[in-house]
Formats: sequence, C-alpha cells, structure tokens
Amino acid sequence: MSTLITNIGELVTNDLQQADDAGSRDGRDAAALSGQGPGPFAAIKDAALVMEAGLVAWTGQASRAPAADEIVDARGRAVLPGFVDSHAHLVFAGERGAEFAARMAGAPYEAGGIASTVAATRRATDPELRAGLRRLVAEMLRQGITTFECKSGYGLTVADEARCLSLAAEVTPEVTYLGAHIVPPEFDGDAAGYVDLVCGQMLDACAPFARWVDVFCESGAFGADEATAVLDAGRAVGLIPRVHANQLGPGPGVRVAVAAGAASADHCTYLTSADVEALASSATVATLLPGVEFSTRQPYPDARRLLGAGVTVALATDCNPGSCFTSSMSLCIALAVVAMRLTTREAVWAATAGGARALRRTDVGHLGAGARADLVLLDAPSHAYLAYRPGVPLVAAVWRAGELAAGSAE
Ligand code: NIG
Ligand code: FE
Repeated sequence: MSTLITNIGELVTNDLQQADDAGSRDGRDAAALSGQGPGPFAAIKDAALVMEAGLVAWTGQASRAPAADEIVDARGRAVLPGFVDSHAHLVFAGERGAEFAARMAGAPYEAGGIASTVAATRRATDPELRAGLRRLVAEMLRQGITTFECKSGYGLTVADEARCLSLAAEVTPEVTYLGAHIVPPEFDGDAAGYVDLVCGQMLDACAPFARWVDVFCESGAFGADEATAVLDAGRAVGLIPRVHANQLGPGPGVRVAVAAGAASADHCTYLTSADVEALASSATVATLLPGVEFSTRQPYPDARRLLGAGVTVALATDCNPGSCFTSSMSLCIALAVVAMRLTTREAVWAATAGGARALRRTDVGHLGAGARADLVLLDAPSHAYLAYRPGVPLVAAVWRAGELAAGSAE
C-alpha cells in the first residue's frame, strides 16, 4: 500500500540529492555528508512525496509524482521531517510548579531542585510512572516529535534507575542511563561512594536497557574526574557517552565530553573559546536547549559562534519537571530563531537532522528516499512559520513510519 502526499507547498527534505533549494547549505561540507543520513537543509517547492512500507519511496516535483494507492492533498501546506528530540527526561513523578513560580519571583535555578523529583519518583509505582511517561510521549507526538531520547536520573538507587530505564525502553530505543544526575541525599558527603555505585552495581542493572550513558558535569553535581569515570565505565559495557555540559556556569563538561568521544554535549550555555574549538575539531554535536534558558532566565548560548566555528548544532526540548517543562519543539525552534539568531532553516535543520546526528541515526531527520516515513504536515505554507507564528499549534498531522499517528490532513 503506497501513499502519495501531493500539493505540498514546501517539502523540507534535508536531502541533498533531490533538493531544488539547496542554496541554503548551513555551512557544512556537503562532501562529508554524502552517503547515509541527513544532508544539509534542503527543500522542494510544489512537491510531492510517496511513502510505502513505512519508508519514503520518492520525493520530487508534484507534477512528476508517480501513481499511488492512496492520495493525500496537502493543499499548499508545508511538510517537514518529524522532529528528533535528542534530550528529554520523561520518567518522573510529581511536579515543581511552585519552584518555577518562586524562580519567576527571583529565586535562582539550582541543581538541588532535582532531589525533590527524586523523592517523588522513588515513592511512585510503576503504573504511575508509566502513565506520566506515556502522557508526555503522546503530547510530544501530537506536536510532531517522532523520535525522542529519554533519560533516567530521578531514581538514583539501583532498583529505581533500572525500573525508570525499563519503562523508558517501552517507548523508545534511545534510552540514556543518567545515574550520575546528582549525588542523592543518602550519599551526602560521600560522592566517591555514589560514583562507585553508578559505575558498578547500578550500571550492571541499567546497561541492558540503555544505549547511552550521560552525566551532569557541573558544580553541585559531578566534577571532571567523576564524570570521566562514569563515561568510561559506561563505554566499557558498550554505552555511548553524552554529557550535560556547561549549563549553569563555565566548567570542564564540554572538554570531558569531547575527550570521551561523546555523541553530544548538551546545554553549552557557558562556553570558552577553548570549548568551542574542542567541539569544532571533534564529532561531538552541541545540543542546545533554549527552552531551559527561557524557563530559567539564563543567558542563551552563543549559537552563532558555534555555527561559525563549524560545530554541528542540534536543538532539543530537555523536557523535565525542573529546568524546562515543555514538550514543544516548535517553541524551541522559535526561541532558537528569535533569541539565538539561528535562521529559520538552521533551526529546523537542528531540530530534525541535527537531532538525528546527536543520536547517531541515519534513518530519521531527513526525507530522502529510504528514510523512515516520519513526517509532519504544518498548517502553514513554510517551515518559517514555526518561528513566525510562535506559540500557535501549527502541527496538523503526523505520520510515523508511514502511518498517520496524530492529527488529520483534512
Ligand atoms: O537538563 N541539568 C540537569 N538536568 C536537567 C534538569 C533536571 C531538573 O531540574 O529536574 C536539565 O536541565
Ligand atoms: Fe537535561
């Protein structure tokens, strides 16, 4: 059964091969991107797309579209690759609305707020955690997120971390072990003892559920040596590193991430020139989370400096109950454009292909032939409307692996 979506006003493909609008290279070396996976931002006007067996089978000019079993009329609207959210904390109980309100009244954001979510998560039953997780996953899907990463980090005991990861593995293959989120209260004064647990018994219980290992490398959380020990231990059992780096102040996080060969250094709010150079000369993606700066009133990262240095930039939500409780990639794109000065093309690329790079995925983040048929139909004629109409729910329909998963094309 094949489906043709036609009369697409703008089809964002991020696929170099078939673009008629590839003048929008985002500074990356096209040669380095040939072959598998997403290329630079690329779009086709007056386009059509055929999907079959869960994959993109054809894209091109609507006037040249082949026949298909079923036809969907996009009526001039835009179609984009599904958003790839490469950083989210979705397994938790409780909420921190009062902490947010206090912050808006002048209190600072501190890593310690995490402890209150840890306490609530430990108290929650599996069905309670599963229900909260699934509600957020459905919320993300309705807003066009078709691939997402999900971390642990609110259990912080062997059993609680393992059950959080087991729940995450029910909803995504992109599961991240974040036992090193903070030192939990029962290890107060014994950070070394907790790091031993994270690198030993807890890792053994968690690794079977996870693909990635993460650490919050920050003052108030884990230092460079502790973070390196956690990433090394994870790597030794086959997990790939990613790091919460340089969120609350300058520090060693980015350099630890690059040295560990991390897929991504996330936040990157406070960077020195040495950090930017380290990222630029590595394969580590800089994942920016502008919803966090928005929700904590911190300064935004210098995204233009990263792009200017040739660093690959991804955008993600960081959906979590503390620093940023949004599941809206559209909001993140609008913030990236308006507050961080990305072009609309750079921001949409970062939220799709960039996220795929951060997750080392070649099947998503683009709509080249052979890609997974994950796509978003916007109630708008171009991708730019995601920033031009901030806060407006523009996602009309979402297909995941070729199946209509949310909304409607009517
Ligand atoms: O990515 N930085 C550490 N972890 C989360 C915040 C977690 C929380 O506040 O509950 C983050 O911002
Ligand atoms: Fe985070």
